Amino acid sequence: MEQEQLRTMILQAHKNRFATKKFDPTQPIDEKDWTAILESARLSPSSFGYEPWKFLVIENKEMKNDLKSIAWGAVNSLEGADKFVIALAKKDIVYNSPHVQHIVEDVLGLPYSETSPQSQFFKKFQESDFKLTDKSSLFNWAVKQTYIPLANMMTTASFLGVDSCPIEGFNIDLVEKYLSEKGLINLKEVGVAYMVGFGHRAMDVPVKKRQAIEEIVEIIK
Ligand SMILES: Cc1cc2nc3c(=O)[nH]c(=O)nc-3n(C[C@H](O)[C@H](O)[C@H](O)COP(=O)(O)O)c2cc1C
Repeated sequence: MEQEQLRTMILQAHKNRFATKKFDPTQPIDEKDWTAILESARLSPSSFGYEPWKFLVIENKEMKNDLKSIAWGAVNSLEGADKFVIALAKKDIVYNSPHVQHIVEDVLGLPYSETSPQSQFFKKFQESDFKLTDKSSLFNWAVKQTYIPLANMMTTASFLGVDSCPIEGFNIDLVEKYLSEKGLINLKEVGVAYMVGFGHRAMDVPVKKRQAIEEIVEIIK
């Protein structure tokens, strides 16, 4: 494919993506498309490769219904989107946490030790460079990273003709309490980052309104 065609295709996918307010509940997502969308989340980059995330795909009808009262921004997705995802961010990800050991040993296939140069480098990065020294900053650092898979999933979806809606319109305490009471999350280990619905639109793409490129990009020579 020519470079120009590729550019056009990529930008078209971005123009076609919009926060879908009305989904057609009768139109399911092709299973292979859905697998590709999730795969683009899995392949997303993360700080040090520690993947501080998990994604709950809520298919349970009763739960979707329950969530409506505590997630005002998700009502459209809960009613019409074929897939509904709640993204979780991991808590207390530090050089000697069990999750880091798991990733190093089981995913990266490397030996793990708290005193290894890698562990100590990560410790220095968190504590000295990024000042990630308390629970709240550590959680927010993990949450920030979960937005990378969000963007990747939405762009992949758009490429495949699947619509999406990112969602922060919910009461975080109530949603976390609900998921915890359902036994789906352990609040000592994870918290909710965002929600996102995927499906097929039952509306037209609104006109995209954005700041001009000169307003958001400053070239420093
Ligand atoms: C982090 C984030 C949270 C959002 N939360 C909601 C939400 O709760 N409900 C909703 O309908 N749209 C939500 N949106 C959609 C935005 O309003 C929308 O992306 C923005 O207005 C730009 O429009 P566009 O995505 O259609 O181009 C959210 C978007 C982002 C990135």
